[in-house]
Amino acid sequence: MFEKLEALPPDAILRLIVEHRNDPRERKVDLGVGVYRDEMGRTPILDTVKKAERRLLEAQQTKAYLGSGGDPLFNKAIQTMMFGTAASESGRLVTLQTPGGSGSLRVAAALLLRAKPKVTVWASDPTWANHVPLLVGAGIKLEKYPYYEPESKAIRFAEMIAALEALSPGDVVLLHGCCHNPTGVDLDREQWREVAAVIASRQLLPFVDIAYQGFADGLEEDAYPLRLLFEQSPEMIVSGSCSKNFGLYRDRVGCLSVVSEDAAGSATVQSQAYNIVRTMYSMPPDHGGAVVAGILNDEVLRAEWLTELAAMRGRLKETRALLCASLRDHAPDRDFSHLERAKGMFSFLGLSSNQVQQLKSDFGVYMVDSSRINVAGITRDNVDYLAASIAAVL
Ligand code: LMR
Repeated sequence: MFEKLEALPPDAILRLIVEHRNDPRERKVDLGVGVYRDEMGRTPILDTVKKAERRLLEAQQTKAYLGSGGDPLFNKAIQTMMFGTAASESGRLVTLQTPGGSGSLRVAAALLLRAKPKVTVWASDPTWANHVPLLVGAGIKLEKYPYYEPESKAIRFAEMIAALEALSPGDVVLLHGCCHNPTGVDLDREQWREVAAVIASRQLLPFVDIAYQGFADGLEEDAYPLRLLFEQSPEMIVSGSCSKNFGLYRDRVGCLSVVSEDAAGSATVQSQAYNIVRTMYSMPPDHGGAVVAGILNDEVLRAEWLTELAAMRGRLKETRALLCASLRDHAPDRDFSHLERAKGMFSFLGLSSNQVQQLKSDFGVYMVDSSRINVAGITRDNVDYLAASIAAVL
């Protein structure tokens, strides 16, 4: 039977992990997959994660099943972190622990299709490369709204608003909560207010993917769009991830929150979501969620984690400035200042796919074909080599 299948090319982002690993060159630079790295190029386990894991090892009494929603302590803590205490106590919110942000997106897609079989989801152009196969593969009709203008490296805001205004009630708008992937260009607060107003007046459903909370301006600051949309829209979907802000990538910790009009709506949504999970993967893995709950529910660990989060955020910001300064030296005729204005891990360099290939083949510099870079792969040691390599292919 399997001979009928066609071999597929590897995933455009994940294949870079292997290609970079197999490159024998000493000076190679990995700007591919979105994983945080420190100044030494390592992705260390956070100290607070280690501490919470040690406690868990000592205190955990059982590995018995928890259920399709995962760990209630994790769900409550992450819901409060994202939406604030008042929203969390409103009865309008249901949160489920999911296997990473991707698992959350997949459950959200199934829920949308149950509620509206012909639903259309509108994503930013461009969006995270995996949004497309993930949502389309689930059966969702996916369309794009204008978002990023490569020339000006800014948001095509007027066009975006015009596109949203033309949507039909019940259409779903997929938004990046912060640290837009792949551009790093986020809506400012005034723009969020305008977007939220159009979403409410056109009766659209906001669907926020927030995989980088705490990596842009701060944990609370980055939650602004969630809290605004919670106030202004009767219903909403939010997919979250603890891969980056807790560094729990391989442990697969994510969450799905659904906002309903009232508690009765929430109970129905929860029953449907549990049923979807039961028939898809039964229940999420526990360990990472228990670690996050252990951190968020302990005042001391939470404060320590906020310091670790601030350090990661600060390094990304400093690294952006470092790369800009180095590019000013190596390519003075070219303006790369947008790199410094963007937030989070990603930005486009604005190179052609040929230039990206040349960076890989001639210099061992790895990035996604679109010229998206993960700035966390840049260090004081490699920035000069990187800027010189980029200048060489311009
Ligand atoms: C990325 O965009 O590189 C990250 O979100 C990791 C992934 O799974 O693609």
